[in-house]
Amino acid sequence: MNLTCVVDSKTTRPYLKGEHGLAIWIESADGVVLYDTGQTADVLCNNLKRLNLPLDQLTAVVLSHAHYDHTGGLPALLQERPGLPVYAHPDLFRPRYSHLLMKHRFIGLGLVREELMRQADVHLSNEPVEILPGLWTTGEITTRDEALGTSSRLCIKGDDGSWQPDPHRDDLSLVWRGKEGLTLICGCCHAGILNTLDHVQRVFNDRIVNIFGGIHLKDANNEERTRVVNVLREKYTDIRLYLNHCTGDAVIQELAGAFQGCVMRFPVGMAKIVE
Ligand SMILES: [Fe+2]
Ligand SMILES: [Fe+2]
Repeated sequence: MNLTCVVDSKTTRPYLKGEHGLAIWIESADGVVLYDTGQTADVLCNNLKRLNLPLDQLTAVVLSHAHYDHTGGLPALLQERPGLPVYAHPDLFRPRYSHLLMKHRFIGLGLVREELMRQADVHLSNEPVEILPGLWTTGEITTRDEALGTSSRLCIKGDDGSWQPDPHRDDLSLVWRGKEGLTLICGCCHAGILNTLDHVQRVFNDRIVNIFGGIHLKDANNEERTRVVNVLREKYTDIRLYLNHCTGDAVIQELAGAFQGCVMRFPVGMAKIVE
């Protein structure tokens, strides 16, 4: 399987555009999946074109969660490819907000349910779903003994109208079952990287050899970062990490110290083959 980063804030070449967001092109012998769609149509379309990744090859889109930096390119993509299969969690349509400077800013999906249903072949599930042979969604991460990968400003409006921390029920990662073991591909990993790894180990019952994407530790404190690094070192000794998006520079440096030579950044234009 071949993974190419299409949207991230960092790029490998000057003609590729960067923005706060994520999209990863995942290609196997059986098809092509776009995991997330970045924040804007401009960046997504520019980078796909410059990386020679044609939209007509796409088999499906998987949305890691509702946030605008992962779903913003979707309307433009569906204009090019109406009726494309789109996979996500059923809680995708819940409005999401960021609370900053006394204001609540909407940061959820820019399409309402009816629009998306009309424009795409939508598959919503909280259970693991096989998108291509060997490529699965994690399904909802229900056991959460460890910290979430979140920030205090991320919130939702409860049924009683009160502001509440976003429980991030919609967070889905992907799992590729390869010859060497399992590859985990994360969007923001708001369910928490340790909760997600635990879930993947239990549900897919094999060793985890690679982690790709964003693991949202950019707002984690020292204690939370140390906990992640220590648990990874104890339980997931063989992993290689290809990190980007919301992971955070501090934890990338700490992980690079703990997993010498096995931690890389995964900016726009970087491609990696995993067996
Ligand atoms: Fe997010
Ligand atoms: Fe994000």
